[in-house]
Amino acid sequence: MKIDIISIFPEVFEPVFSVGMSRLAQERGLIDINAHDLRDFTEDKHRQVDDEPYGGGPGMIMKPEPFFAALKSLVGESPFVLSGGHRTILLTPQGKKLNQKMLSEFSRAKHLVVLCGRYEGVDARVGTFVTDEVSLGDYVLSGGEIGAMVLVDSVGRLISGVLGGEASLDEESFSNGLLEYPQYTRPASWLGFEVPPVLTSGDHKAIREWRAARARFMTQTKRPDLLEERETDL
Ligand code: ADE
Repeated sequence: MKIDIISIFPEVFEPVFSVGMSRLAQERGLIDINAHDLRDFTEDKHRQVDDEPYGGGPGMIMKPEPFFAALKSLVGESPFVLSGGHRTILLTPQGKKLNQKMLSEFSRAKHLVVLCGRYEGVDARVGTFVTDEVSLGDYVLSGGEIGAMVLVDSVGRLISGVLGGEASLDEESFSNGLLEYPQYTRPASWLGFEVPPVLTSGDHKAIREWRAARARFMTQTKRPDLLEERETDL
């Protein structure tokens, strides 16, 4: 998968994606992540990416043309009428709240272009030429860069071949709408806390059943909202 990120701070991505899973996935040729400077897509001498809001008000608004030019250059066609395979994603607090289901959909694209806003906001017309608007949650960040890191990291690990054991994806939190069951490693006894005996019993059927019951219980007690969502999805 090809992933392009458009930002006025492209340098912040390098240290994040040059370690761990992202690094390995890039070295294996499974993903290709590139961050681009939005200012490279301006045409004026000052490389201006923002301007005052029409109607007045505080702060500056990011102009639509540099984003449009960047997208056009990166997808090689009009951002308004994209052929399949491309997803163009604007990070904004007004977008749809990111969840594992959306990530799974994004992970099937051939090409993701992630647009990061800054300042007080982005000209509303940018929303007319992206395929998706995504929010990290109901709070305001100072820009889309951290959101882009979250998105790229969590999509990257869903791409086939990126993680060693693909089975771990089926077991992990949210993949089936539930939190993951509790996990333990050695030592079996620590500060008087014991690992549940079923996990050391060697009885695989009992372990499976215990995990399924615990996943449901943990979700019920910690995130009952997920169970409600799951009912509506089934
Ligand atoms: N930019 C500013 N706030 C944001 C949020 N909550 N999600 C995504 N992008 C943002």
